[in-house]
This record gives sequence, structure tokens and C-alpha cells, in this order.
Amino acid sequence: MSASIKVFAPATVANVVCGYDVLGFAVNEPGDEVIMKLTEGSGIRITKITGDEGRLPLDPQKNTVSASVQHYLNHIGKPDVGVEIELHKKMPIGSGLGSSSASTVAGLFAVNTLFDNLLTNKELVPFAMKGEELACGYGHADNVAPALLGGFVLIRSYQPLDIISLPHPDDLYAAIVYPEVDVPTKDARQMIRSKVLLKDAVTQWGNVAGLVSGLFMKDYDLIGRSMTDILVEPTRSILIPDFYKLRSLAMKTGATGFGISGSGPSVFALTKDEATARAITQKLQQHLKGIGINSLSFVSEVNKKGPVILD
Ligand code: HSE
Repeated sequence: MSASIKVFAPATVANVVCGYDVLGFAVNEPGDEVIMKLTEGSGIRITKITGDEGRLPLDPQKNTVSASVQHYLNHIGKPDVGVEIELHKKMPIGSGLGSSSASTVAGLFAVNTLFDNLLTNKELVPFAMKGEELACGYGHADNVAPALLGGFVLIRSYQPLDIISLPHPDDLYAAIVYPEVDVPTKDARQMIRSKVLLKDAVTQWGNVAGLVSGLFMKDYDLIGRSMTDILVEPTRSILIPDFYKLRSLAMKTGATGFGISGSGPSVFALTKDEATARAITQKLQQHLKGIGINSLSFVSEVNKKGPVILD
């Protein structure tokens, strides 16, 4: 056996402001690459990781890619198959862009392709959630589901898992800025209140329903006014340098809506066109530079494909 495959899986914006753990969408860049080979030996080996500055474990039980691939192999009744994995990180870790998700999804898509697509991408979601559980202590699906399926995704229920692909306006763009401060998802989850007032829940589910309706109706105003989060953002925004100033700059530059990407520190805006998205990233990066913070930016349409085979 020497079958080998190279796969790219995309970054994702989870929560989409109001939908903590239930909404997410994929972008075209950045993302991660996995090269996977089936071997004569037995067991999974991670032979190389690049782009992680030595931060990710090579131990197959601790690495999210190998751990979720092992769950997949157990499931298909081939727990001892020999697998070699190279992981090439092409995106920042701890950025709020679904970094662990992109790696895990690339690995699962690769192994499933090598085994003749025994499962659909949707059926791979629970295996990818195992990777998230290992990475941050909770198997949330709002990064891995859009990374696997592309587009906007709603996790209507976790038990049982019920994943719905949502439509979106064709010309929707995302402007993403990653201020280079590290916010591990595990810590960013622990700081959130676990109890909410009923009146706050009412506000929040009104916005979630509004955002989903806006996506269906291709109504930018409704999308924008629904991108409000009174439960999580007030706490997490503390970790992001000048968050409210960044919001005001983005909105003044024409953003439809603005907020924290996943658990941060990346922020994102949705826009009606590419030029507005580029103007927003430029303004936000300029502001961050002015307060001494380096940043990276990405402008992308909503990714429609999910993971793809590169060669
Ligand atoms: N829904 C998750 C969170 C996404 O906000 O913690 C993490 O990227």
C-alpha cells in the first residue's frame, strides 16, 4: 500500500456573533494542508508538522488530526491500519479561525478519501468534534461542520446532532483581521457565564432567528441588525485590543455586521462586496498598528466547497 493524498481544509468563522456554538461559515483562505499515506506498518505516525512553531504535539494520541483519524479507523473496523500524516499549518493557532478544526477536517477528509468515501462529509462531523474536544475540552461543531460542508451551517441540536446547511447571498464577503495576541479557545470558553437571564435569552434567540432569516431572504439589513451578541461578546471582547473602536471603524467603512470570530482574537465583518471588505481590513490593521499590535488579514467570499484534494 502506498496511496497518498494531499488535502486542504478551510478556516471558519464560528458563532457569527449571535449564534454561540450553533452557527458558522467557511472561508476560502486561510486553511491547513494534510498529506496522508497508507503504509504497510500498523498504527498512525505523525511524520512532520510545519508552520506551528513547535506548538503542536507529534504524539498521535494528543494530536487532534491523528486522534480523530483513529476514531474514524476504529469506526470502519480498521483500527490497526498504518497511516503516516504530515500536517502543514497555513494559519495561525489560537486565532479564532478554527485552526484545530481545519487540520482535523483535512485529516478526516484525507483518510475518508483513501477509504473510498465510506462516509459522507456530514457523517464525518462527529469524528471531527472529537478533535475539538481534545483541543479545547468541548466538542463544539460550529467550526468543523462548516469546514466539512462549506457555506453557512446551523447546528440545530447537539443531541442528537442535527446539522443544517443554510443559503447565503452570493455576493457576501468576509473581512477578517487577526490581531496577533493569543487567545486559547479553552480559556475563552471558561470565562463565559454559564447562566443567562430569560430576557437576555429572548434577545439572543430573536437575533439568531433574524440572522438565519436574513440569510434565506438575502436581506443585508436584517443580517446586519441581527449580528448582535449580548451573552458572550461583552466578556470576550475584553481580550481583544480596542474591540469597540474596531467595530466602529468597520461599521463606518460600510460593514453589514461586525463581531468576534469564534473565540477570538480575530474579528470579522460581513460586507456586500470585496472592495468594502478590503477597505475594512486596511482600516482595522492601520488602527492596530497605531496601538503597537501586528495583525494579519484575510478577505474571502463564503467558501462553498469545504475540504478539497490538492493532488
Ligand atoms: N463556538 C466556539 C466558541 C467556537 O465560541 O468557543 C470556537 O472557535
